[in-house]
Amino acid sequence: MKFKLLFLSFFVLSSSTFFAQQTIDKKVNDLLSKMTLKEKIGQMNQYNGFWNFTGPVPKGGDSKVKYDHLANGWVGSMLNITGVREVREVQKIAVENSRLGIPLIIGFDLIHGYKTVFPIPLAEAASWDLEAIRLSAAMAAKEASAAGINWTFAPMVDITRDARWGRVMEGAGEDPYLGSLVARARVEGFQGKDLGSPFTIAATAKHFAAYGFVEAGKEYNTVDIGLNTLHNIVLPPFKAAADAGIKTFMNSFNDLNGIPATADAYLQRDILKKEWNFDGFVVSDWGSIREMIAHGYAENQKHAGELALLGGSDMDMESSIYIYELEKLIQENKVSEAHIDDAVKRILKVKFELGLIDDPYLYCNEEIEAKIVGSKEIVDATLEVAKKSIVLLKNENEILPLRKKGVKIGLIGPLAADKSSPLGNWRIRADNNTAISVLEGLKNYKGNDLSYTQGVKLINKIPEGFHEEVQINTTDKTGFDEAIALAKKVEVVVMVLGEHGFQSGEGRSRSKIDLPGFQQELLEKVAAVNPNIVLVLMNGRPLVISWAAEHIPAIVEAWQLGTQSGNAIAQVLYGDYNPSGKLPMSFPRSLGQVPVYYNHKSTGRPGTEGEEPGSVFWSHYTDEENSPLYPFGFGLSYTTFEYSAFNLSATEMTKNTSIEASIVVKNTGKVKGKEVVQLYIQDPYASATRPVKELKGFKVIELEAGESQKVTFNLKEKDLAFYNAKQKWEAEPGTFHVFIGTDSKVKQKLTFELK
Ligand code: NOJ
Repeated sequence: MKFKLLFLSFFVLSSSTFFAQQTIDKKVNDLLSKMTLKEKIGQMNQYNGFWNFTGPVPKGGDSKVKYDHLANGWVGSMLNITGVREVREVQKIAVENSRLGIPLIIGFDLIHGYKTVFPIPLAEAASWDLEAIRLSAAMAAKEASAAGINWTFAPMVDITRDARWGRVMEGAGEDPYLGSLVARARVEGFQGKDLGSPFTIAATAKHFAAYGFVEAGKEYNTVDIGLNTLHNIVLPPFKAAADAGIKTFMNSFNDLNGIPATADAYLQRDILKKEWNFDGFVVSDWGSIREMIAHGYAENQKHAGELALLGGSDMDMESSIYIYELEKLIQENKVSEAHIDDAVKRILKVKFELGLIDDPYLYCNEEIEAKIVGSKEIVDATLEVAKKSIVLLKNENEILPLRKKGVKIGLIGPLAADKSSPLGNWRIRADNNTAISVLEGLKNYKGNDLSYTQGVKLINKIPEGFHEEVQINTTDKTGFDEAIALAKKVEVVVMVLGEHGFQSGEGRSRSKIDLPGFQQELLEKVAAVNPNIVLVLMNGRPLVISWAAEHIPAIVEAWQLGTQSGNAIAQVLYGDYNPSGKLPMSFPRSLGQVPVYYNHKSTGRPGTEGEEPGSVFWSHYTDEENSPLYPFGFGLSYTTFEYSAFNLSATEMTKNTSIEASIVVKNTGKVKGKEVVQLYIQDPYASATRPVKELKGFKVIELEAGESQKVTFNLKEKDLAFYNAKQKWEAEPGTFHVFIGTDSKVKQKLTFELK
């Protein structure tokens, strides 16, 4: 009976979605049949807001021309228009002036919050808390949609291994499994269960594809990777986003094996639209259609338009090429109207699903905007997520948590009182200096005697505006003496060092990834007079901090945590929140190791550090260890965990059976704490070489002091599948190793056979 009911409700549900979908398809076709060619092309044209921009403005794309295009119905979308008043203004031009009155879809880079800022995405990934990540996206969507936005260019799901690349801050780090789950959580957060609700927005999986593999971590650089890496490492999070029902994809600036991604039909048509059945639309990146000329792939603008459309780009972001060239290309039979119809249908469908066609002003309600933007609910959520994103990297002699009474604390560092940097990059609509600083956060704990000095100054190169450049001083050491004097007087020094929020993000690749400016020198000078240092790092990428790892007793990775940054950090330093984050990206020992990542291949000469005395003929550096300073998955707690009773329920698996892998985890310390229990596998021999380890499961558990819990994972054949030498996604029979532990260094393994 129960089964029948379940089946019935499943049938009713799926058939109602089916009919809703059919209705939308019919509405799309009806509308399309009324459109002129120029109006169709207009839907494929996206302009930036006239009063703001995030890149070079196209030639001739001045405000007057854009205005006329809008009024003619030759614009399908605008980006960077925010706030109900402004959105309503542009929407009115489109709806009331154009012949068919098709509303615009309003896009925005809602990367980690709108006005209220959540931790940078890399930091959120460090929480390994998918519910928190979903909440962050949902809250950001709620706030942004209240301000008129209905489409975000997020999540960035690029897998990143090279910390020199500035955009590592925007993603979930180096692992495709974690990256896929985070991608799904963010899509679910942004889009919710009902896209037609005024509080949910369409999401974008970007940058399709392989932008995270730019050579040498240099921004906008070329990418040359094989199919093995493309399918096994780069594509899984995109696939996860597609499977989660994401509505749009954005392609990327880079070329991939010689083809600019913007025109890559293998990626956009064969894989995305055919193999994955993606029925949303693909937007180009900013000007990336035009950039194919500079790439040396398109002869001129018209050619670029042709290549982009044939390659599967449905919407042109700020190149103005589709609107000027597509009609000519049709006349010359270079592209067919069917290509255009397909793109327009995809775009219209999303507009219908968002509820925009039925009500162009669905997202334009001033009362809701006033109530929701900056509301307590959202601010409180940022604090929750921020705490969970912090990673404790070192804690010797239990210097942390700090005692709450009677301690003289010296707070030092260029970022310690800073209220801008913690907002990170891509905080486009946050008011400047609205983050709670560490100084403010620590002041809430009144039982201690707190003094502060900056030590090294920040330099504001361009003080205002989106393209703000802030650096950490490299010429002025006048603050050193005061910092050293303060350090001498106190019991504990808290130093807040790292990168300014504008030193990572788009266009911010760095060739050195140690502490910038005079910070390293300051740290060493302070440590010489008072070794009791808690180093709080704020950064948008893994940094080389080998000296600190050796000499400083406590290190807290606090990334850029957004609006509530200082409160989250203070709660962790004082033990009101027991840190539970784990690194989503390996921290290198030295720059020369980059890219360094846990799921590397074995090579033909893996050797083992220390076991090949005298030999140099194995895969290693002669002047550096192979292992990273802090591995993927690493993070400490104020308590300790012990793993025991590792067990597999069987030693054989078939296509239709599963294996239960279990382990008992005990909290062996004195306080309650959370642990991210991680399961890795290794396929030691296959038709194409496999990584030495691959994350395939994790569970976040919370244990009281002394408490134990059995943690189980269910492994199935599909967890063992990969893109193999036959260019198929499948599992190959043979031996598999399973590891369960606290981070990717875990050694203890059990073995089973896939039959
Ligand atoms: C360029 C960036 O690469 C992309 O991620 C972003 O969404 C667009 N600019 C729009 O701002």
